[in-house]
Amino acid sequence: MANSVAEVMPTARSEHLAGAAAPGGQAFEALEPILRRYHRSPDSLIEILNQSQELYGHLSDDLLRHVAGSLELPLSRVHGTASFYHLFRFRPPARHSCVVCNGTACEVKGAAPLIEALEQELRIGLGACSADGWVSLGSVRCLGTCSAAPVVVIDGAVRKHQTVSSVLAAVRELDAEHGPEGEAEPQP
Ligand code: FES
Repeated sequence: MANSVAEVMPTARSEHLAGAAAPGGQAFEALEPILRRYHRSPDSLIEILNQSQELYGHLSDDLLRHVAGSLELPLSRVHGTASFYHLFRFRPPARHSCVVCNGTACEVKGAAPLIEALEQELRIGLGACSADGWVSLGSVRCLGTCSAAPVVVIDGAVRKHQTVSSVLAAVRELDAEHGPEGEAEPQP
């Protein structure tokens, strides 16, 4: 299994791997036209990382190595740049997303108990993703529908005037779909 991103922080070994082919034969062929468009220029690193993420969903260790090798940059520089910007993610996005608005109106109308109930139900903290990649729990500052507070967005669907019981029912419907074998694991 590939090392985690944390494990590819600059070391002599990881620097060496920067120019190596991706393990497992993954060629990242779809990235080739993008690399060519930017003339494999290190000055275009952020744009290339951004489009790499759009193509593959997240920046895996292998993908970071491939970009580093293609631009002839140290892996430490590529990893450091990717880590600096919040828009980049190193794990695949969750299959389901659950986002609670915690803007002022939603706070006043009870966003906090919703978050607490969801954290307990999903067994993850706010801002986290379940270890199996099934669901993420996030928050947002005001969705512009304050008259419908508190508001929760599940898989992109806006749910207005939510209560603890309604939001738990919605999440348990996801659970029914997911099945008992894939139950979300708590974060380490
Ligand atoms: S504060 Fe939640 S929608 Fe505006």
